[in-house]
Amino acid sequence: MALSTGSNKIKTAIFISGTGSNLKSLIKFSKLKNSPIMIKMIVSNNSKAKGLQYSKIYKIKKKIFDFKNALFEKKIINELKKDNIDLICLAGFMEILSKNFINNFKGKILNIHPSLLPKYKGLNTHEKAIKNRDRYSGCTVHFVNSKLDSGKIINQKKVRIKKIDTPKSLAKRILIQEHKLYPAAIMKILSL
Ligand code: GAR
Repeated sequence: MALSTGSNKIKTAIFISGTGSNLKSLIKFSKLKNSPIMIKMIVSNNSKAKGLQYSKIYKIKKKIFDFKNALFEKKIINELKKDNIDLICLAGFMEILSKNFINNFKGKILNIHPSLLPKYKGLNTHEKAIKNRDRYSGCTVHFVNSKLDSGKIINQKKVRIKKIDTPKSLAKRILIQEHKLYPAAIMKILSL
């Protein structure tokens, strides 16, 4: 993909389920003059997601969908296509997308995961890293394919695990790095 500027920005949708701190950092990134993306839509599977507040604050359209329902899935695919969405960023989105959904946006879906993939796919990554006495954990941005947390890795950031770390304290330090890693991943894939 060529780097886009001006009115030619990549129309992006961010999918969330919870707090939305990565969403917030991506919104801030999108507002930078040289950012290649514009965020057109926030999508959530959870109507109570705290991150939905950013829809109001930044005046970005929000959509809430039940991803377990095939009819709703068809609806969201249509919405995304209608808005010419060319990039989907999963940011704390805790639902598994169907093969059909992924095929509709091949190579255009990214995810951020709180571990150094391929280590610790799925949930409770910080607990696992601490329990295994790893010296490092971190975060990864990768393309989404039909296997959980298994698509091609775009970039990663290592974070040192301290002896005193709890899953919560480690998650907090990793999250700070996530906020830098996701924009960097987008810059990387769009300047290829
Ligand atoms: C982030 O740590 C993200 O990497 C993780 O959920 C958190 C969401 O935080 N994602 C996953 O675990 C996906 N499997 P946020 O809502 O504040 O961005």
